[in-house]
Amino acid sequence: MFSTKAHRTGADRMSDPNWWRQAAVYQIYPRSFYDANGDGLGDIKGVTAKVPYLKELGIDAVWLSPFYPSALADGGYDVDDYRNVDPKLGTLEDFDEMAAALHAAGIRIVVDIVPNHSSDRHEWFKEALASPKGSAARERYIFRDGRGENGELPPSDWDSVFGGPIWDRITEPDGTPGQWYMHIFAKEQPDFNWENPEIREDFLKTLRFWSDRGVDGFRIDVAHGMAKDLSEPLPMKADLEAKAHGTDGFADGSHPFWDRDEVHEVYAEWRKLFNEYNPPRTAVAEAWVHETRRARYASPEGLGQAFNFDLLQSDFDAASFKKIIADNLVAAKESGASSTWVFSNHDVVRHATRYGLPKGGSVAQGTNAAQDVTGGTKGQDGKGWLLAGAPAEELDVELGLRRARAATLLLLALPGSAYLYQGEELGLREVSEIPDAERQDPSFFRNPGVEIGRDGCRVPLPWTADGSSFGFGAGGAHLPQPEWFKDYAVSKQEGVEGSTLELYRTALRLRSELQTDEELEWVETGNQDVLHFSRPGGWHTVTNFGSDPVELPDGDVVVSSGPLDNGKLPADTTAWVVRDA
Ligand code: BGC
Repeated sequence: MFSTKAHRTGADRMSDPNWWRQAAVYQIYPRSFYDANGDGLGDIKGVTAKVPYLKELGIDAVWLSPFYPSALADGGYDVDDYRNVDPKLGTLEDFDEMAAALHAAGIRIVVDIVPNHSSDRHEWFKEALASPKGSAARERYIFRDGRGENGELPPSDWDSVFGGPIWDRITEPDGTPGQWYMHIFAKEQPDFNWENPEIREDFLKTLRFWSDRGVDGFRIDVAHGMAKDLSEPLPMKADLEAKAHGTDGFADGSHPFWDRDEVHEVYAEWRKLFNEYNPPRTAVAEAWVHETRRARYASPEGLGQAFNFDLLQSDFDAASFKKIIADNLVAAKESGASSTWVFSNHDVVRHATRYGLPKGGSVAQGTNAAQDVTGGTKGQDGKGWLLAGAPAEELDVELGLRRARAATLLLLALPGSAYLYQGEELGLREVSEIPDAERQDPSFFRNPGVEIGRDGCRVPLPWTADGSSFGFGAGGAHLPQPEWFKDYAVSKQEGVEGSTLELYRTALRLRSELQTDEELEWVETGNQDVLHFSRPGGWHTVTNFGSDPVELPDGDVVVSSGPLDNGKLPADTTAWVVRDA
């Protein structure tokens, strides 16, 4: 049973085709990770410089958010050129060097692919604007004539995810007001026409390009986008809302641009390409879909794995965690994938903040890209999990961190892949004090007074307690870092017993030693606020969601998210106990 340790170390581990099933994947938002050239923006060389840190952390893979050339209208998810590195971040040679360094350290590389839309600076979009209506160049995107006498009204009244209309009108090459193009996200992100074989071919080329460069896997952005039914007459907002808010959400795949069945034809093609490689390239879908439809994205004939954001949307609550875990393990088994677990990423308010706010309370404002995509109302079920706008005085910093640590230690014991977001290993919470003038996220600008945007979780990391930008680089930081960052710096936590960084390091090391089959068994605790499960090999995890300390099972406590209280497990704490199986 304990055979995994042997095959998870050394060269063997790098050729294991199942490496992804229980990997700890660390998401790097490259512009905010580490700035090697001192221009205020994190870069590829910055990742290379921190490979020793990543190795020491004990992760299996990094996932890099987009590092492609981009005007940063949406943090890099507006891609100008899919087969290049943004010159502000480095070169392809820098990428190769980084890949080699990561691989030498036994760390795999997952890159973000953004297939639903390009940026408006992509050469194809520029060509489309310069070409006449009906031309092949326009057919790569979604252009339509406007309604109204002179085409002055958008083709439909749909809203984009970031706010404002989903259509923008162009000026034709002859200077007259022209057609409209569709963009589900920002206007700088025109949607591709996936019925056009040229688009399909080009993405195959891109996947091959990065696979050939040694990339091990892909995170597919808005994987439930791409396929669209734009047959006339286009439905109007009220028709979409009826579908979005029906009891079953979009469970029938009938929405004109989300989660349509045809999208899986694309992934079947991609899977063939992935399987040409040895080991096969992996992929994980970012698909905010009805839970009954997630398995299709995760199937072995498709992308292979899909994010579930259920824990991320849950309160810190025993019953809710248990149900989510149980349901997702069943769903993963049925689809042939392994489950995914995530609390934080570049789109949501950090979990150390979420758990420090009153349950079900504060306003949901961090980012609602995800929610709008699922068609849910803001703050699903009124819970408000995206709460960057929550008044600072409502935040209990200490409670938030204690719960975040407990939740993470629980997550790291679950079968399946753990997706971690840079900075959570430092216990960072959301930065709420960014002046409006320095914000960057389009959701902030397109929803004035409503959305605060996602910048608060994208602030450059503090590496040292002092110095320019807390050691992020020799220059400044592209988003302002608050003074309190100094207390969370890597240098302040390294080697410090009980620090969040050391907790993550210990847990990740133990995880790779203890991990075996993807089995989990619940142990009855007789206390509704306490969750207890075991994994093969005698690895027990207990989390106390309640307020009174509880007894731990017999065995060795190998790590706990906080100090024990006379041998008991206090409130908001998780412990791993190992005992003879
Ligand atoms: C990404 C976001 C991005 C959006 C549009 C999302 O799902 O995670 O950061 O804004 O896709 O590309």
